[in-house]
Amino acid sequence: MQSRVFQLEEGKEIIVVTGGRTGLNKVSPSKLLPLLGFFLAFTIIFLFISVSTIKYYGIKSVVTSVTSSIVPCNERRNDLDKWIKRPAVLMHNMSDEELLWRASITPHRKEYPFNRVPKIAFMFLTMGPLPLAPLWERLLKGHEKYYSVYIHSQVSSSAMFSASSVFYRRHIPSQVAEWGRMTMCDAERRLLANALLDISNEWFILLSESCIPVFNFTTIYQYITKSKHSFMGSFDDPSPYGRGRYHGKMSPEVTIDQWRKGSQWFEINRELAVSVVKDILYYPKFKEFCTPACYVDEHYFPTMLTIEKPAALANRSVTWVDWSRGGAHPATFGAQDINEEFFSRILKSDNCTYNGRYTSMCSLFARKFSPSALEALMQIAPKILSS
Ligand SMILES: *[C@@H]1O[C@H](CO)[C@@H](O)[C@H](O)[C@H]1NC(C)=O
Ligand SMILES: *[C@@H]1O[C@H](CO)[C@@H](O)[C@H](O)[C@H]1NC(C)=O
Ligand SMILES: *[C@@H]1O[C@H](CO)[C@@H](O)[C@H](O)[C@H]1NC(C)=O
Ligand SMILES: *[C@@H]1O[C@H](CO)[C@@H](O)[C@H](O)[C@H]1NC(C)=O
Repeated sequence: MQSRVFQLEEGKEIIVVTGGRTGLNKVSPSKLLPLLGFFLAFTIIFLFISVSTIKYYGIKSVVTSVTSSIVPCNERRNDLDKWIKRPAVLMHNMSDEELLWRASITPHRKEYPFNRVPKIAFMFLTMGPLPLAPLWERLLKGHEKYYSVYIHSQVSSSAMFSASSVFYRRHIPSQVAEWGRMTMCDAERRLLANALLDISNEWFILLSESCIPVFNFTTIYQYITKSKHSFMGSFDDPSPYGRGRYHGKMSPEVTIDQWRKGSQWFEINRELAVSVVKDILYYPKFKEFCTPACYVDEHYFPTMLTIEKPAALANRSVTWVDWSRGGAHPATFGAQDINEEFFSRILKSDNCTYNGRYTSMCSLFARKFSPSALEALMQIAPKILSS
């Protein structure tokens, strides 16, 4: 644009100069002076008129608005999009401290000024790969508007999922997590914080590589979205494995009456997830005073959420597990265990409350299943997961 203006002015000058030269050849110097004066006056008047015209008709403002819309490519405009668009890539270089701080930023107006379809964040906390992935693919495919997937894994196995997989590029920056240690809670907070960065995620489910779904997607979505409570296991266990793990130095932040225990496999809503990532009050106490044989991943979230938001909790998990075989670990099921009777045992075994009413539908997920169960699970899936 500039070079064109420059050319145009050059052209003008050439015209003026040639006009002067032709005059010089024919007219005598005495007659030239008044002519030159007249020409000068004419030029000044012309300049004055054009400047005031530009001012008057706002040509200037058009010019400025054009320049202001030309923003350097690497600078982002402060539009609403910047705040509501899900991150295009999950990988980032934020430290945990930076991430938790960022994730704790939350809107305080109840209504969203845009069409927000609330999603469930399926958060997989895994040691190694995800052997039961095909079952989850089967559950999730076709419901893209209503879910997000996040994987915290100690092995970087992004490459093993194809571009069409629901797990493709869903790994978050991960660190070593040890059972019963604070590093496990750190990993869970990391998952929550990463999932909170997508404003459309409203419910957050923690799952492991040995978990399976036991209902179809529509049923799971309805159950979670219509619930008045979050499904965090939380109970007061008077035994040495409950209250016995409490340390007196946790008070006054946590008293023995407030001490809770529960399975780490939770489902919480966005409000509770923000409570978890923003916590700087209880975290240091648990980190210092709940070390094995106090298994912090069984106590930290149930206790702090019971103190902060007791009425929001269902105090039970929606992940079925079988402790009936006894011992320190729950039963693991393989190929030979999978049949319809087994599933009806999971689906109709319990008696629990849902929105204040008794129901036998208490679990949406189950654990633990070994990789060898996959084939049998895929065969029975059409009966259980069809949706
Ligand atoms: C992340 O990357 C940016 C530049 O790309 C750098 O300035 C910043 O220090 C990095 N942060 C961490 C925690 O590595
Ligand atoms: C869960 O327990 C808390 C206190 O421990 C209680 O306030 C809350 O009402 C319980 N939730 C349900 C659904 O009963
Ligand atoms: C579930 O338990 C409650 C209270 O213990 C009882 O009143 C109710 O009848 C039970 N429901 C079923 C289906 O067993
Ligand atoms: C999902 O499961 C529910 C209950 O198990 C069933 O009633 C419903 O028909 C299933 N949905 C679809 C679309 O098959």
